[in-house]
Amino acid sequence: MGKAKKKAKGIEKIEVSYAPEQKILLKRLTFDLSEHLADKPRRLAHSLSVAKTAERLAVLYGVDPFLARAAGILHDWEKACSVSEQLEHARELGIDPGVELELVHSLLHGMIAARTLPQRYPELPPAVWHAIAVHTSASADMTPLDEVLFVADGIEPLRPSSPGIKLVRSLVGKAPLEDLFWESFVGGIVYVLEGGRYLFPGTIETYNALAARRTKRTKE
Ligand SMILES: [Fe+2]
Ligand SMILES: [Fe+2]
Repeated sequence: MGKAKKKAKGIEKIEVSYAPEQKILLKRLTFDLSEHLADKPRRLAHSLSVAKTAERLAVLYGVDPFLARAAGILHDWEKACSVSEQLEHARELGIDPGVELELVHSLLHGMIAARTLPQRYPELPPAVWHAIAVHTSASADMTPLDEVLFVADGIEPLRPSSPGIKLVRSLVGKAPLEDLFWESFVGGIVYVLEGGRYLFPGTIETYNALAARRTKRTKE
């Protein structure tokens, strides 16, 4: 794991130094992504911003910053493809969310990348692919690395602020990681509802599982 300097105030001041082989791999991932998303500069900038944010959140919350950075770089890999290509890939891979794929097309890119990228980067462990798989939909069994990527995706500095995003940003370093994730996750659901969009039934199940766990914990 990389060594972190946390002396300076503010998450953006956190710097991590990595072992030579980790540095080489991160450089390669960044290079590959830059080529893969050459036609989508905003998506590329977002991905690299998520990677830095995830790395810093990882340091703050005791998660492996190397895995967080790698997951951040690769999390939107499949977004290089159009929605129709993503739907085609999901069908080819047999991804079955239990509802029409078209209804949940915005959730598919994480699941697709998590199934296709391990062959390309066998050096990276399953934990990275799990984080990428659940970065859109979340799940009831989020690991701290999964939570770090999910939160980083929602609050990276290039993302325009909203009351929900502002709240999560204000909690960084002050609230436990699972509370940051919860606020981020619920904020995402509110966004879907307010926009009158389709809400994936799996998200409702995840919400209920997490809400029940949180209620139980506050009673203990
Ligand atoms: Fe994404
Ligand atoms: Fe993203």
